[in-house]
Amino acid sequence: MAKFLVTGGAGFIGGNFLHTMVRRYPEDEWVCLDALTYAGNMETLEPIMDLPNFKFVHANICDRERVFKLFEEEHFDYVINFAAESHVDRSIENPGIFLQTNVIGTQTLMDACRKYGIKRYHQVSTDEVYGDLPLDRPDLFFTEETPIHASSPYSASKAAADLLVLAYHRTFGLPCTISRCSNNYGPYQFPEKLIPLMIQKAQRGEPLPVYGTGENVRDWLYVGDHNNAIDLIVRRGRDGEIYNIGGHNERTNLDVVKTILRALGKSEDAITFVKDRPGHDRRYAMDPTKIEKELGWRPTYTFETGIIPTIKWNLDNSQWISHVESGEYQLWMRRYAEK
Ligand code: NAD
Ligand code: DAU
Repeated sequence: MAKFLVTGGAGFIGGNFLHTMVRRYPEDEWVCLDALTYAGNMETLEPIMDLPNFKFVHANICDRERVFKLFEEEHFDYVINFAAESHVDRSIENPGIFLQTNVIGTQTLMDACRKYGIKRYHQVSTDEVYGDLPLDRPDLFFTEETPIHASSPYSASKAAADLLVLAYHRTFGLPCTISRCSNNYGPYQFPEKLIPLMIQKAQRGEPLPVYGTGENVRDWLYVGDHNNAIDLIVRRGRDGEIYNIGGHNERTNLDVVKTILRALGKSEDAITFVKDRPGHDRRYAMDPTKIEKELGWRPTYTFETGIIPTIKWNLDNSQWISHVESGEYQLWMRRYAEK
């Protein structure tokens, strides 16, 4: 039996992680800490809220006093840090909060780990720390040895956090692992990200805004496959190691948007090319050989098999979407806190 702290569990990937792991490991205890920013939603946690091995704590990972008190009370064995500001476009508008949460928040958690002791700290990171690859070199992939070369304030903040984790490992001997994953998609993704945004817009008959020429390439991974990889790394990965996660599902943005339109029976006329994202990364592509060989991880979904349930989930859960879009969940959270 072990006790896990999962930060950012009211968000997209952390929420899916908890849905699976709280049930997969009923003998373990799971505590979710989340600040409930615009991206965190208590309704995402409803399916597991009443399970006896799950508990929610409303707090900010940058709040040192609160975080330390929680560690003192709970005696965690494992800490998995999903909490982050995660949207590149928002980091271009307002970099400050990205440095605060993604860097200082990581430091705060690791300082608490040092003070109270843990078996392992796991940092959920991203392929974006490697920068981008040229479009005309499909033979190139990011490996764990690829130098860090971040492009946006978001990816720079994630890269800074990764370096800090490695420094805490080397300097203080903090037991830790880092995973770097490619673009995720699946249920409960906030509709600011490409796939859920395009599904919503297509459904509503609105124009679909494709940045630049739409030729940028992302390497799409179904969220459940990412979470299975994290589970393996946390339990069986080697201390101080970085693991790349990706399933070789590269698609241009235009391909992704066309796939969604086709699945919904909508016309491609809705595609509208708009001003490009500043510093827009051209291509991400992961080499997951290390995690496949060392831990036997394999993705279970291809893009073709994952996109269909993702579209269906978005169509079937219009209430969740309208609540997160309208901020209704903030009211839910207040009602929950008053219970
Ligand atoms: P998300 O934006 O959907 O969720 C982030 C969660 O963190 C929210 O619940 C939010 O309330 C919480 N949070 C934000 N600031 C906080 C703070 N200061 N204290 C406590 N909680 C806070 O993000 P996501 O897409 O689920 O990403 C989760 C993690 O995975 C992030 O670290 C991200 O960098 C990484 N990642 C994401 C992707 C992707 O494609 N979405 C891919 C690779 C890695
Ligand atoms: O690669 C992993 C990263 O993937 C994560 O670390 C980030 O947290 C996550 O947000 C995601 O970053 P991207 O910038 O790749 O995702 P986003 O969904 O914002 O955009 C995907 C691609 O689609 C990107 O090339 C920009 C483009 N795009 C996006 C939006 C929102 C559009 O063309 N139009 C849009 O409206």
